[in-house]
Amino acid sequence: MSFAHRHLLGIEQLSPADITAILDLAETYVDLNRQSAKHSDVLSGLTQINMFFENSTRTQASFELAGKRLGADVMNMSMQASSIKKGETLIDTAMTLNAMHPDLLVVRHPHSGAVDLLAQKVNCAVLNAGDGRHEHPTQALLDALTIRRAKGRLHRLNIAICGDIAHSRVARSNLILLGKMENRIRLIGPPTLVPAQFAAFGAEVYDDMREGLKDVDVVMMLRLQKERMDGGFIPSEREYYHRYGLDREKLGLAKADAIVMHPGPMNRGVEIDGTLADDINRSVIQEQVEMGVAVRMAAMELLARNLRGAA
Ligand code: NCD
Repeated sequence: MSFAHRHLLGIEQLSPADITAILDLAETYVDLNRQSAKHSDVLSGLTQINMFFENSTRTQASFELAGKRLGADVMNMSMQASSIKKGETLIDTAMTLNAMHPDLLVVRHPHSGAVDLLAQKVNCAVLNAGDGRHEHPTQALLDALTIRRAKGRLHRLNIAICGDIAHSRVARSNLILLGKMENRIRLIGPPTLVPAQFAAFGAEVYDDMREGLKDVDVVMMLRLQKERMDGGFIPSEREYYHRYGLDREKLGLAKADAIVMHPGPMNRGVEIDGTLADDINRSVIQEQVEMGVAVRMAAMELLARNLRGAA
């Protein structure tokens, strides 16, 4: 299994073979994570630092657990309490940490491109845990693993990505990954939230959700990212839910075995009906969280192999 990358910055840089390599290795970790003894030592001796400049529940916890299960020494930097607050720049902070010789640096940052910039300044492997509206590669990989396990394949599926696409790095990374694996992608949302240039990725754009959901295999909902909005993108949450919120009636237009996904955190009753999100016969939202740990273990193992190879 070869994976010729120093960092994991985006799906953009990965080939279909790279994607398959990560997912195949992740499968072995799904099994390990279901046992009571979950420990492996593939990262033993290595230091992993998690730097989250933006809030996170799932992603940070998942990277932390992934590193610990693989035997790395894991440190979570509390960026709220760090010198960033005293005016230190991102690069100065990165250089300071770099001098402590980490092997893996996991970074989330509100600015698109910030993680790429940081990767150019440090000696270790950098994993992008989400940069602005740009990429969130491990989320797209965990979504891909969830889809592959539920549908038995990751190609020639009809996949709808719905809602606030304009502000979503999850949508962007998924669009790139699912396109590379030759799926048919539909983007559904109000024109204010679905930028026209996204059609250039080869997706079909719909503003009528009932039309867009017809016969899809996968319905991926996105959170309305209010923190990235500075004006009237939607008339009201009530109206938005009426037109674009996923409920059983709209889901009825998709294939009978269509699965429902959401990266979390969810706004229940805004983009998705709460009982549908909790319906284990349709929703794979909990599986997505489970796959997140396995995919992050796989990604870190592949990068660490290259680190050791280069040493
Ligand atoms: C996403 C993110 O941070 O981009 N969440 C996540 O990583 N699970 C999506 C979101 O915040 O809506």
